[in-house]
Amino acid sequence: MLNQVDIVVGLAWGDEGKGKIVNAICKDYNYVCRWNGGPNAGHTIYLNNKKYKTHIIPCGVFHSKKCIIGPNCVINVDKFYDEIDYLKSEGFDTSLIKVSPKTNIITQRHIIYDKLYLQKKLGTTAQGIAPAYSDKMLRCGKLAKDYIDKKYLWDGELSGKILCEGAQSFWLDINYGNYPYVTSSETLPYSACSLGFSPKKIKNIIGVAKAYDTKSGVDPLFPEVLFDIPEFKLITDYGEEYGSTTGRKRLVNWLRLDHLDYAIKKSGVTNLIINKCDILNQARMYKLIVANITKKFDNLDRFQKYIRKYLLKDKKIKILFSGHKEVL
Ligand code: IMP
Ligand code: MG
Repeated sequence: MLNQVDIVVGLAWGDEGKGKIVNAICKDYNYVCRWNGGPNAGHTIYLNNKKYKTHIIPCGVFHSKKCIIGPNCVINVDKFYDEIDYLKSEGFDTSLIKVSPKTNIITQRHIIYDKLYLQKKLGTTAQGIAPAYSDKMLRCGKLAKDYIDKKYLWDGELSGKILCEGAQSFWLDINYGNYPYVTSSETLPYSACSLGFSPKKIKNIIGVAKAYDTKSGVDPLFPEVLFDIPEFKLITDYGEEYGSTTGRKRLVNWLRLDHLDYAIKKSGVTNLIINKCDILNQARMYKLIVANITKKFDNLDRFQKYIRKYLLKDKKIKILFSGHKEVL
C-alpha cells in the first residue's frame, strides 16, 4: 500500500540544491522517483566528502533506494547506460534503478535539432529535450520498452513512502515559467502524479530556493550585463555557479523575493529551504529585490528576518536557512 508521498521541488531557475536535500532525507523513504525532464538536469551531491553527479538517475541510488524514472521523463539510452556504469564503478547498487516502459526516448535526431535550432536562441542544454517531448506530443515518439534492457524496466505499483525528486524548477515550467525561456516539461508538484499516485497521497512539499538567483541559459530577466557586475562575479566564484550539465557560467542576480513568494504559493510548499546563505556571508553582501526595488541589509541575520516576515505574512510554512555544503 502507498502510505505517503513527499515532493522536493525547485522554486527558482534550477540549481538550488535539490539533489543535496534529496540526498539528506531519502533514507526514510522506500522509493525515490523522477517525474520530469531528462539529461538536461544535473544533481550534484557530496557523500563522505566525495562529489557525485547524476543527470537522469534519482539521488536515491546513493542510499540503496529503489529509483524510478517515470513516464513523463525523457531518456537518452546511451547516457542512461553511461550513468549506470559510472554508478556501478563507484560501488552503488544499480539493480534498483527502474524506468517506466512508457518513458519517451531521446534520439540522435532530437539532439541534432536542438543543437541546430534551439541551443543558441533559447540557451537550451542541447540534450534534445524539446524535440523529444515534441515527438511525444505528436505521438510518434519511441518508448523505453523497446530500447531499454528488460531488467531496468518496471511498471509496478509504488508502495510505502515515496519521495519525488523535482528537476529543473518553477520558472522553467512549461505552463508557469517565463515562456518560451522554459524547459518542455512540468516542473511543479502537480506533475509528480504522473508517477501513478493520487494527489490525495501528497503530504509534504519541500521547496528549495537559494539566497540569490541564478540562471543558466537565456532569459530576458537575466540580461548578459549581469556578467560584468563585480558583486555578482564574487558570488559566481564563491558559489561555484557553473552549470553541472553544460559547464556554462550562470547569470547571477539578487533574490527576487516576490517571485519566490509566488512560486511558493503556486507550488503549495509546506517546507522551505533557502540554500547557500553562507555564500552571501563570504561575499559580505546581503541584498534582495522586491517589486524591482533592491533592498540592502547589514548582515545575514537581518536579511533572513526580512525574508521570514515577508513570506510568513499570509501563509504558514516552515523555513530553514542552510549553507552550501551544509548537511541538514
Ligand atoms: P532544455 O531543458 O535543455 O530545453 O533548456 C531550456 C532552458 O532550461 C534553458 O534555459 C536551460 O538552461 C534550462 N535548464 C534545463 N535544465 C536545467 C537544469 O537542470 N538546471 C538549470 N537550468 C536548466
Ligand atoms: Mg542542476
